[in-house]
Amino acid sequence: MSTLLFVTGLAVGVYFVLYHTVIKGAKCKSNAKLHGKTVIITGGNTGIGKTTALDLARRGARVILACRSKQRAEAAVNDIRRESGNNEVVYMQLDLASLKSVCSFAETFLKTEPRLDLLINNAGLYMQGKTEDGLGMMLGVNHIGHFLLTNLLLDRLKECGPSRVVIVSSVAHRFGSIDFNCLNFNKALGVGESFMDTMKIYSHSKLCNALFAHELAKRLQGTNVTCYSLHPGAINSELARNASSLVLALIKPITMLFFKDVEAGAQTTLHCALQEGIEPLSGRYFSNCAVQEVSAKARDDAVAKKLWEVSETLSGLS
Ligand SMILES: NC(=O)c1ccc[n+]([C@@H]2O[C@H](COP(=O)([O-])OP(=O)(O)OC[C@H]3O[C@@H](n4cnc5c(N)ncnc54)[C@H](OP(=O)(O)O)[C@@H]3O)[C@@H](O)[C@H]2O)c1
Ligand SMILES: *[C@@H]1O[C@H](CO)[C@@H](O)[C@H](O)[C@H]1NC(C)=O
Ligand SMILES: *[C@@H]1O[C@H](CO)[C@@H](O)[C@H](O)[C@H]1NC(C)=O
Repeated sequence: MSTLLFVTGLAVGVYFVLYHTVIKGAKCKSNAKLHGKTVIITGGNTGIGKTTALDLARRGARVILACRSKQRAEAAVNDIRRESGNNEVVYMQLDLASLKSVCSFAETFLKTEPRLDLLINNAGLYMQGKTEDGLGMMLGVNHIGHFLLTNLLLDRLKECGPSRVVIVSSVAHRFGSIDFNCLNFNKALGVGESFMDTMKIYSHSKLCNALFAHELAKRLQGTNVTCYSLHPGAINSELARNASSLVLALIKPITMLFFKDVEAGAQTTLHCALQEGIEPLSGRYFSNCAVQEVSAKARDDAVAKKLWEVSETLSGLS
């Protein structure tokens, strides 16, 4: 009995230390205040988007939650206003699975908001299917919708420089690759519906995020706009909600114990958005609040350029 107690106590202690030293990870150290600045964050209604939005609201920013669900977004707006004491938190409709919605979001935003200082491309999903425009769902939402959104807002970001674009990618990008034939023929990053296919397509979409930051930084040289991609960590969020119930049951105990909470999961996004002096690292990839060497695939100049051109076509920009 006492052995059992001892072992249990030891396990809890080890877990506690592990959680606070390894799992939780680094914290954004910037004390920047954001009064008078405007931020857009996609998918700011839940997960790490919501905790990122809350932190930015506490710093005094005007925070625009660009979300697809009015009901979920308005609930988040209320929570964030209450917890931050900042009433400059508003919802604007954006469904990244619809190019029309992206265009109308940008149009409304540019008409009604004078500034844009920070664009945080955070929304993402792990789910198969097609967007309204017939694009693969993860290609459309995780990459193309954000690609179009960013391009439509770029002039405003340039006018308001120094400004930043922060792109939430993932360590999963390391398992990704870009099949341009598939992109051209299927308007998707891959075909197939199995568990492995879904994982692969998600990874491809996160590689698109890192390649987008790489190419965007080049195109922004000579402006006061910089951009960064990042891995937020493994986080206990709603991301896996559309995985099969078997997968959900298997990963639940692991995510509960060994994944970061959503506060810790916001830290690298906040670092890229706020940390003073990282401008020379524009286009680079961050993890655990520090710049990291991205996989070679994610800094391949030719692939990044080609992906940009295909994305222009798929998003209707050209
Ligand atoms: N969780 C992790 O371990 C992990 C690891 C690496 C990278 N990431 C990345 O981190 C980012 C945030 O994910 P999370 O973990 O916080 O997941 P989450 O809790 O599922 O939040 C995702 C957000 O994206 C929004 N979204 C999904 N589809 C959208 C669409 N068509 N239009 C507009 N918004 C849409 C969701 O809105 P609804 O609530 O309306 O669905 C939600 O607000 C994602 O880019 C993800 O790939 C996560
Ligand atoms: C960038 O910002 C600096 C300092 O605010 C300003 O002097 C410069 O003109 C800006 N450059 C561009 C290209 O806007
Ligand atoms: C994804 O999961 C959410 C939450 O469980 C659910 O409301 C939604 O209908 C699911 N979507 C699909 C296409 O399965």
